[in-house]
Amino acid sequence: MKDILILAIESSCDETAASVVRNGREVLSNIISSQIMEHRKFGGVVPEVASRKHVENVSWVVDEALKEAGVKASDLDAVAVTYGPGLVGALLVGLQFAKGFAFSLGKPLIGVNHIEGHIAANYIEHKDLVPPFVSLVVSGGHTFIVHVKDYGDFEVLGETRDDAAGEAFDKVARALSLNYPGGPEIDRVAKLGNPDAIRFPKANFHENTLDFSFSGLKSAVLNYLNSAKQKGIEISVPDVAASFQKAVVSVLTENVIATIKDRKLDKIAIAGGVASNTSLRESLTQAAEKLGAKVLFPSTILCTDNAAMIASAAYFEHISGKESLMSLNAKPGLTL
Ligand code: KG4
Ligand code: ZN
Repeated sequence: MKDILILAIESSCDETAASVVRNGREVLSNIISSQIMEHRKFGGVVPEVASRKHVENVSWVVDEALKEAGVKASDLDAVAVTYGPGLVGALLVGLQFAKGFAFSLGKPLIGVNHIEGHIAANYIEHKDLVPPFVSLVVSGGHTFIVHVKDYGDFEVLGETRDDAAGEAFDKVARALSLNYPGGPEIDRVAKLGNPDAIRFPKANFHENTLDFSFSGLKSAVLNYLNSAKQKGIEISVPDVAASFQKAVVSVLTENVIATIKDRKLDKIAIAGGVASNTSLRESLTQAAEKLGAKVLFPSTILCTDNAAMIASAAYFEHISGKESLMSLNAKPGLTL
């Protein structure tokens, strides 16, 4: 069978990325221009700054992706791009570039849902992974438990009703005066702390649901910090980080385990930036092992935003005959 080469562009948040992937699973190049240092001084992503940086970078990032892959633009089978969810200005930069590029080459355009991209990162990392499986998508903007029934066929079983898991990590890290992005910082600092030092409320509901709520937990951490300051009690940053992380990880683990039991599935693929979290990986792996289930996760570079995962998701759309119209618009609130 002829090889399928897809170039993908990702610009939904603060990474300008381009990648060439062969047959959906083989990464030929994966170029990521991160804006983290630009946004760090503001403690979070500034949408206007993100859009400007994407404009500056998108052209050379795409150039570099083709060069590193050793692929001529004319040899591509399609041009893929994230069209949502994300920051509208940021999405539009990648989308307009991809449309222009695809049109000038006379190649099909494939718009990709960023969340589907995160799940597809697992197809790159685990060459034998095929649906069905359960995916836990945990990123800065999303928290979903998804039954992946087939490529492109998803059933959302649980989601956050307020903050995303990564957002909670970032906000708590900020309150602890840790750097942006806060997730990796909390992960690092928590290793030095006692996860049982402070009892924070669990981030779930008492109803029969797989949904999450992280804003109450975040407020509990902020209240704890304020009251400790008022009372003159010394705050142990590692203990707060470890106790907070335990509260997040335990609810994510419980709900995913409940899902695989209910759906009788034996594979869990974690995805998104928070899938890099050491404690989450350990907790899920241990809990799943008891049920004879397997936990898969992508390497760190494929967990956080990148374009290889977008190219992989686009490949499965391409082979099923789907392509987007040139009128495709950015959808900041797109969901699964
Ligand atoms: O997937 P991603 O790069 O971007 C979005 O689509 O949102 O995820 C970024 C999120 C941030 O909130 C970051 O703090 C979090 O992933 N993150 C982590 C870790 N590494 C990144 N959270 C917890 N532990 C980590 N090791
Ligand atoms: Zn993402």
